[in-house]
Amino acid sequence: MSLEAIRYKRGELSILDQLQLPIASQYEAVKNVQDGWRVIREMKIRGAPAIGVLGSLALAVELHHRTFSSKEELAEFITDSLEYLKTARPTGVNMADCAIRINALLKHQLEDSGSTVESIKERIIKEAEIIQDEDVKGNKDMGAFGAEHILKNCKPTSDGKHILMTHCNTGSLATAGYGTALGVIRAMYEKGQLSHAFCTETRPYNQGARLTAYELVHEKIPSTLITDSMVSFAMKKKEISAVVVGGDRIVANGDTANKIGTYQVALAAKAHGIPFYIAAPSTSCDLSLPNGDGIEIEERPHSEMTSIGGKQIAADGIGCWNPAFDVTPGDLITGGIITEFGVFPTNELAEKLQPHIDKRNK
Ligand code: MRU
Repeated sequence: MSLEAIRYKRGELSILDQLQLPIASQYEAVKNVQDGWRVIREMKIRGAPAIGVLGSLALAVELHHRTFSSKEELAEFITDSLEYLKTARPTGVNMADCAIRINALLKHQLEDSGSTVESIKERIIKEAEIIQDEDVKGNKDMGAFGAEHILKNCKPTSDGKHILMTHCNTGSLATAGYGTALGVIRAMYEKGQLSHAFCTETRPYNQGARLTAYELVHEKIPSTLITDSMVSFAMKKKEISAVVVGGDRIVANGDTANKIGTYQVALAAKAHGIPFYIAAPSTSCDLSLPNGDGIEIEERPHSEMTSIGGKQIAADGIGCWNPAFDVTPGDLITGGIITEFGVFPTNELAEKLQPHIDKRNK
């Protein structure tokens, strides 16, 4: 059975506390919007799609248990909660995308003179549940499109299969299920076309060592952990067919904010002639920004760099810079952007994706 980052049934929500993995599997209840914001901020749950899904479900759970005296009071609560949830982590766009979607639905509901407090609550709760279901389906579609593209366009190893490299964690733990980049790796494995996966440890927060390694072992996918500083040498020595990573915010020209270190992995891939892919749902795409310069990059506490597992490793007094994400220029994304609607070259992303986004937001 796949790992479950989010457990939900109407009125009940909990998350697998990712800070305790891989040592302990402990679920923590999320009872309201405030809890949702906190577990996202504390990175007990992380990964851009999981953040959007969890935030929406936290709202749904609070709506389920709370009463409102008027439609206006309900509407204000929903809008304010979405605004607040967006602030938990700024770089990934998925929560903001969910907010746009839920606010648009709320507006339609308020315009309907036959709607009531209860009918609006029910419809918004349903929408959060749809968001969760769509994420899993989108990931499976991405897995299929990505695997097909890699099989057609990337060079297999001497055994006729493929070796893929990934960075950070983009699997079941970072989504509502299956995963984005890790979903592509899973799809390749399910097709019998993957001989090996390499995952980076992903300093300083170690999502690769703590979470991706755990998922790969759990799924029994043959795999090897490397440190971030081994990426170029592994590309030279290990017959890597392609690199597939996730994305927190992909903008109109294909520039992609993703976990810090992605940019240098993309540069190394280019130097070695290895196709580099981003796998991300349309909910991680922000076509309102023309390029990556306008993406807000979250900066995290210095202690994440100066200590490991609570043990100090750097000298007191040293300066630190700890951006959680970097922006990979679109022209380094040589394989393309794998979405639930197909695989697009970065220079065609906006044109190809916009009609799908318009249809989805109708
Ligand atoms: O800081 P994190 O762990 O939330 O960062 C996660 C990533 O950068 C992932 O690559 C991205 O969110 C895509 S997850 C499907």
